[in-house]
Amino acid sequence: MCAVDVTSVISTDRLILRGPVMSDAPTIASLANDLSVAAMTGTIPHPYGLTDAETFIARAQACDWKSEANWVIEHQTFGVLGGLGLKRSVRPELGYWIGRPYWNRGYATEAVRAALRWVTRDWRKSVIVAGHFADNSASGQVLCKAGFLYTGDIEHRPSAARGRDDVPTRMMVWLA
Ligand SMILES: CC(C)(COP(=O)(O)OP(=O)(O)OC[C@H]1O[C@@H](n2cnc3c(N)ncnc32)[C@H](O)[C@@H]1OP(=O)(O)O)[C@@H](O)C(=O)NCCC(=O)NCCS
Repeated sequence: MCAVDVTSVISTDRLILRGPVMSDAPTIASLANDLSVAAMTGTIPHPYGLTDAETFIARAQACDWKSEANWVIEHQTFGVLGGLGLKRSVRPELGYWIGRPYWNRGYATEAVRAALRWVTRDWRKSVIVAGHFADNSASGQVLCKAGFLYTGDIEHRPSAARGRDDVPTRMMVWLA
């Protein structure tokens, strides 16, 4: 069981990345219940309701931060505006989303850069992987800005919101 401990909280110029708490559920449900967000992720279904958000939060709160990190991305003024997660393995994999009202203000790039610093320091990992659906150039741009490079591999991955398990996904890698 992991409560939000101090080592899992990350501050950037504009954002705080912290473990989710139950009072975040209405905001997460509202922002994630958007097909333009959900369809670009592997795991967010559509529609996405309050119960889905509460289930996600309960699971995140029960996680072991040594094996899985789940943050909400909180703006100092606007509050919670997205999420970011990392699964530990030989090469941890990164995933994230930002609510549509907050796109194109650099928040995803700022959060990803901060998470990369965290995973390097706390998990002592120097190779991180990520993949974006081939029709999601914005995410590719975020990863490029954060220093990821395309591996050239295309995997076929599930998308809960699309109801498909074969969405072409461009794989990328980051080296510390
Ligand atoms: C992808 C996503 C995380 C980007 O978040 P964001 O906070 O808007 O990202 P940033 O502002 O840091 O950077 C976005 C970049 O993409 C660019 N961009 C936006 N739309 C684009 C498009 N259709 N094609 C190419 N680039 C695009 C922006 O211009 C910006 O690049 P720039 O700074 O060089 O101009 C957000 O759109 C999102 O959550 N989408 C749905 C879920 C998702 O895609 N998650 C990632 C799964 S891999």
